[in-house]
Amino acid sequence: MLNRREFLSRSLKGAAGLLAVSVLPAGLTACSNDKKTVNTSSMANLGPLSELTKGEFPKKVQHKATIKDAWTEQEREGGVYINKNKDGSLLIMSPVCTHLGCTVGDAGENTQKTGIRFLCPCHAGQYNEYGINVAGPPPRPLAIFDAYVQDGNVYIAVLSPRKREK
Ligand code: FES
Repeated sequence: MLNRREFLSRSLKGAAGLLAVSVLPAGLTACSNDKKTVNTSSMANLGPLSELTKGEFPKKVQHKATIKDAWTEQEREGGVYINKNKDGSLLIMSPVCTHLGCTVGDAGENTQKTGIRFLCPCHAGQYNEYGINVAGPPPRPLAIFDAYVQDGNVYIAVLSPRKREK
């Protein structure tokens, strides 16, 4: 039979052991120099990076993705607008208006004069070429996607756009 002091001592040692086991792998992972491969099976492939960085910007790129979860699998088609940031990196923007979710379109030829590059047909929301909201009801810029490059192709997680603040 354990007395109270022995019980507490053994319990604390056990808890410390569990804590060490649960913290160690995370620490090792954080320090690892191994290149991680990202599971791209549910992501949209936007195509080869070498092609995406060519041509005129901003441009629209269509994509397809098969979204899988534990029980279902569904095909999704969509598109993104891509521009180049000033440092040359790709800015991959969702076309979903940040007001009420309509799909924004390219403003076309008047862009040079007005600075408006994307127009929302629903309530006349306006965005510049970097997806920054410049007029109308949209409360913030178009969301953006993080890009994952694997085997020379650029992938995005279509269900996980990242909000931006102005
Ligand atoms: S949904 Fe785009 S401006 Fe309202």
